[in-house]
Amino acid sequence: MADASVEIHVDIGVQEILLAASQHDVPRLRQLIRSSNDLENPVNVKDPETGYTPLHAAIAACEQDFSDLKDSAPNGMHSDAGAVNEVQERILHTGRDTVKFLLQEGAIWNDLDENNESPGCLARRLGLTELYELMVDAGVRAELLLSHLEGYQQLSDHDTEEDYETQAQEKAEVPTSSVTAEGSIESSDISATEPVTSSRYLQSNLTFQFDRLLDEDQNGVMMAWESEIMTRTARKLLPSPGLRVLNIGHGMGIVDHSFQEQSPSSHHIVEAHPDVVAEMRRMGWHEKPGVVIHEGKWQEILPRLIEENETFDAIYYDTFAESYSDFRFFFSEQVIVLLDQTGKWGFFNGMGADRQISYDVYQKVVEIDLFEAGYDVEWEDIKVPQLEEEWAGVRRRYWVIDNYRLPICKYIE
Ligand SMILES: C[S@@+](CC[C@H](N)C(=O)[O-])C[C@H]1O[C@@H](n2cnc3c(N)ncnc32)[C@H](O)[C@@H]1O
Repeated sequence: MADASVEIHVDIGVQEILLAASQHDVPRLRQLIRSSNDLENPVNVKDPETGYTPLHAAIAACEQDFSDLKDSAPNGMHSDAGAVNEVQERILHTGRDTVKFLLQEGAIWNDLDENNESPGCLARRLGLTELYELMVDAGVRAELLLSHLEGYQQLSDHDTEEDYETQAQEKAEVPTSSVTAEGSIESSDISATEPVTSSRYLQSNLTFQFDRLLDEDQNGVMMAWESEIMTRTARKLLPSPGLRVLNIGHGMGIVDHSFQEQSPSSHHIVEAHPDVVAEMRRMGWHEKPGVVIHEGKWQEILPRLIEENETFDAIYYDTFAESYSDFRFFFSEQVIVLLDQTGKWGFFNGMGADRQISYDVYQKVVEIDLFEAGYDVEWEDIKVPQLEEEWAGVRRRYWVIDNYRLPICKYIE
């Protein structure tokens, strides 16, 4: 039987920490966190009802109702605006110090509360830009650290492909989300279901509909709403006729149609899924001008192209259910050899797009990694249309962000 006195004591400890966080009382927080023997992870305790962590509590406390202060002005006039601003400033200042302290103490940047919000989501909803930026930077540090640790792990053990694939997530890409493995945010609706892995995806039967390509689990592999993004990307990568392009991942063929419209001199397509390859044949892709289809995973095909000394003026990457480390390997080891010195390359930038803060974190992470690999990146913002009906029949919304950031990368000069 559980010792009730211990339970009550632990609960009080949790509430004391959350209260000190909401009061922005850093000395008290320090004392509680350092002296707490009953709590395993005092800086990451959670309120059982709201799911608030100390970070949530500190941020939520920055939202203040100043109506009392304003109403106290003579004749109901809001002549106390200066005083209100001063109090707001002070609260924001202490809030910032508290958030910084908690992060230094090891607070998890992306723990979700009962409202499915991370501390950063909460800061954004409350319009607390400075605190939001602090949380984004914390996310970037955590992700960079994790990716470096993963690098050490790769050097030290001989993990199988499957080991890495279990860390992959959702549409095309990357570790948008799992507090655990990748340090980002697990969406509650997928956490209970089968993870999307490359090997599982490549063995599943696909369904082609006029506006979408679905796998067996109803994951959206590709959707027609991405057409403008694809067209815009193709025109930027192939600004004039007669260039050589390599596309990784055919999907619904949207980007490849746009590449064809730019009249390339050669148009290589790498596609790993047998159903997509069959559909390409049915649609006569192998007969289109300059098209060379490579059936297989890019991981196997690209080394062969490198051996054959193929080079390209443009390269595009948009795969499915692969991890961020796959993608990083692609641009740091493969693009670097296959791309002509004056060439450009791009990728479908969907990392973390199921949550604004994850998207913002990954923009910074990828920019750092691209820079380290020797690339400059130029971004163009594209407004994404309202997506509502599009998701009917799709397992999960992999896109909730208002603006797509279209990347075009070149070698650093
Ligand atoms: C998101 S779709 C590409 C959509 C495409 N950009 C379009 O405009 O329709 C991803 C495609 O990548 C393919 N794919 C996934 N993993 C791959 C790999 N390792 N190598 C090559 N193709 C892969 C999938 O089978 C799928 O056809």
